[in-house]
Amino acid sequence: MARLVGAFAASHGPLIIRGWEGIAPDRRQRLAAAYRSLGRRLAALRPDVLIVVSPDHWVNFFISNLPSVCLGIGETHDGPPEPFMKDFPHKPLLGHPALARHILETALAADFDPAISHHLTLDHGFCIPLWRMELDRLPALIPMIVNDLEPPMPSIKRCFAWGKLLAKAISSYPEKIRVAVFATGGLSHSIGEPTMGAIDEAFDRDCIKAFQNGAEGPITALLDERMEAAGNGTHEVRNWVIAHAAAGSRGFDLIDYRNMPEVYVGCGWASWSAN
Ligand SMILES: [Fe+2]
Repeated sequence: MARLVGAFAASHGPLIIRGWEGIAPDRRQRLAAAYRSLGRRLAALRPDVLIVVSPDHWVNFFISNLPSVCLGIGETHDGPPEPFMKDFPHKPLLGHPALARHILETALAADFDPAISHHLTLDHGFCIPLWRMELDRLPALIPMIVNDLEPPMPSIKRCFAWGKLLAKAISSYPEKIRVAVFATGGLSHSIGEPTMGAIDEAFDRDCIKAFQNGAEGPITALLDERMEAAGNGTHEVRNWVIAHAAAGSRGFDLIDYRNMPEVYVGCGWASWSAN
């Protein structure tokens, strides 16, 4: 049987690549160190497959066709199309169609109805953390795109349910492989609205505390009450909920948190490892 060996979360603001040289060296170093630390933890678990939960920033989908959740079940995925991502070091990006299809079938049997794609393009949301983590090699990737961008979005309750569904699908997959789940996005940020650049550090720290404690009720209450006011980009914390719930809501270990106005994002890095 497959085994869930870890769950991870990290921020992905475009300026973490595009504005890298403009960040003061000491702050840049701490940012780099947090991603590296996450990368080391992930590499140590030797996952064969990484399920990456990210929004799609209008690359595969638009308001004319906007799934709440889309699973990437293809053999391969395209790398990031953004010009500032042109030096992304990993290619090709292999998928894992067999596990992806098993997740899909498990979902449909449990009355979840995700969209599917046989070929996705993985934008900066997926690829910035994978790049900054400085991994020698990438596991096979199963992309799970969640609509964190355009209301109405999946509820926090539904995100918990999705996480549990992923756990069930992984544990019932017959092949003996190691699987990790990786959420990208958040924490608080505001893009293209009057509060652009605002970071709600109090929200971010409360959020991290709630994920460390793990309990579903307080996380749901916090996000339902305060996520909307913490900036439109903050909705990406939904992905953290999915990864956290996939790991049985047993509590994320905080690697670091940085209020980074230079990249417009309250940056957080967190992980959970099976013993
Ligand atoms: Fe984003």
